[in-house]
Amino acid sequence: MKVLVIGGGAREHALCRSLSLDPEVTSLHCAPGNAGIAEVAELHPVDILDGASVAGLAESLGSDLVIVGPEAPLVAGVADAVRARGIDCFGPSGAAAALEGSKAFAKEVMAAAGVPTGRSYVCTTPEEIDEALDAFGAPYVVKDDGLAAGKGVVVTDDLAVARAHALGCEQVVIEEYLDGPEVSLFAVTDGETVVPLQPAQDFKRAFDDDQGPNTGGMGAYSPLPWADPDLVAEVERTVLQPTVDEMRRRGTPFAGLLYAGLAITSRGVRVIEFNARFGDPETQVVLARLKTPLGGLLRAAATGQLAIFPALRWSEGAAVTVVVASHNYPDTPRTGDPISGLDDVAAKDDHAYVLHAGTRQDSTGRVLSAGGRVLSITATGPDLTKARTRAYRAIARITLPGAHHRTDIAAAAAQAAAGEAAGAAGAV
Ligand code: AMP
Ligand code: GLY
Repeated sequence: MKVLVIGGGAREHALCRSLSLDPEVTSLHCAPGNAGIAEVAELHPVDILDGASVAGLAESLGSDLVIVGPEAPLVAGVADAVRARGIDCFGPSGAAAALEGSKAFAKEVMAAAGVPTGRSYVCTTPEEIDEALDAFGAPYVVKDDGLAAGKGVVVTDDLAVARAHALGCEQVVIEEYLDGPEVSLFAVTDGETVVPLQPAQDFKRAFDDDQGPNTGGMGAYSPLPWADPDLVAEVERTVLQPTVDEMRRRGTPFAGLLYAGLAITSRGVRVIEFNARFGDPETQVVLARLKTPLGGLLRAAATGQLAIFPALRWSEGAAVTVVVASHNYPDTPRTGDPISGLDDVAAKDDHAYVLHAGTRQDSTGRVLSAGGRVLSITATGPDLTKARTRAYRAIARITLPGAHHRTDIAAAAAQAAAGEAAGAAGAV
């Protein structure tokens, strides 16, 4: 199977790494890719938002399967353009990707499907905004209706800040504040059958102890030892399957990756948001644990064959990823800094590896930072404690001037799990 992956972040590096380990994948291409992906896939330049260019590239490569990573091309209908040429594509249509592209549309689908989510108002005028903010009170949750690369949401106790953000959006969703830990659960779907993956947790704030601004994600881990063992089955029954059924009923079936961002509140599970693609950085840890070959799974989804696809196989162990971000991220990040120590991590083979997010190679072969999130250091282990130790040991080998990363990714979960294991051992 010849596979073409569209995108060039750590998520695409994780996808390409897994695909490169699938014996059915005989040739692997990525456009545009990055310096790390170049080690496992052949790179091609392309305007990822231009459906005709992406479809043309897939045709010229003789691709059997195209996988579209990021949301912007999906919302722009790039998957439709690929399928129009008769090439199988993993990724929803532009119409179905509106589940991520418009938060108001997602709310409408959830209401129709009876999916539990926070109460909300869709506002377009200052009067509506003030009414909604007043109705909910602090903390205020204000979401730009459209795509905003993880920066459209403001959660604040400050009414003036909430109001200013809302007034800056063309259309805005103002929502009830949802308390409780967050879980990301991905499902692969062909528009009918839903195959949930393992849950993960993402760390959205820039700094330790969930301080600082929201980012695209500073780290993740899986599994979630603290979560109810029935969580996945419950979310499949109450969220994922009803949403997929409702999208099909509307004549815009959702086939691809349905990402449910969930809050586990005292009153039960609530959907915070849907995304129409693999999440970053959760993909890095979920795929690190998936033993089923990825290419076959995604092709089954793209061709409507999930009902007969064998049950997924998972490693029993844990995975942790820590994002190394450039100086000043998530504000205007500084780019062009040299990265060293990458070979050192590879040479140690300590169950840790570097996934590239925003990197490029200069003419002399040096790897330079080229974005806000630069690297996603991923490690596996028998438990979270071991996986964390390995991830942070690998980070210590890497130098990137001005970079910052969180030091507490998976720390609380690892400590709680270790405490429980010690307690259980003591009880025997
Ligand atoms: P989103 O882009 O919708 O994922 O929102 C980004 C982040 O804002 C989420 O991961 C949450 O941490 C936070 N957030 C969004 N909606 C809510 C809500 N209703 N209550 C509390 N926090 C929220
Ligand atoms: N992990 C957050 C996102 O992918 O949107």
